[in-house]
Amino acid sequence: MTEPQLTQIDHVAIAVQDLEAAIAYYADTFGATVAHRERVDSDGVEEALLKVADSYIQLLTPVRSDSPVAKYLEKKGEGIHHVGYRVADCAATLQSVKDHGGQVIDQVPRPGSRGTTVAFVHPKGAFGTLIELVQE
Ligand code: CO
Repeated sequence: MTEPQLTQIDHVAIAVQDLEAAIAYYADTFGATVAHRERVDSDGVEEALLKVADSYIQLLTPVRSDSPVAKYLEKKGEGIHHVGYRVADCAATLQSVKDHGGQVIDQVPRPGSRGTTVAFVHPKGAFGTLIELVQE
């Protein structure tokens, strides 16, 4: 398979300690507004999506101490957490990752925020970046 499977940047996710403060920063400094907010209990996070053209900045904060984002903040502090690439077919792209020897976090696609279907690819084998495949 040599056809491109990543169709757009869906979002850049930034882990923050204080979601309200981060939203206010983006609003006051850049005039960015919240397009969507959601608490994703399965991931232990609350997120705010700020629209930038056809993509989003996803501000992420943990809602419980065993959330992966809580562990990330403890270890690395605030900053870029993952990049979400929009794909036409999440399952097919996830299979391509496996076929190319990549490590995946989700063996099969699962529900993401705003009604999307997502799967995470492990940063090991992906040049240090946690990748989320997002199918709308
Ligand atoms: Co994401």
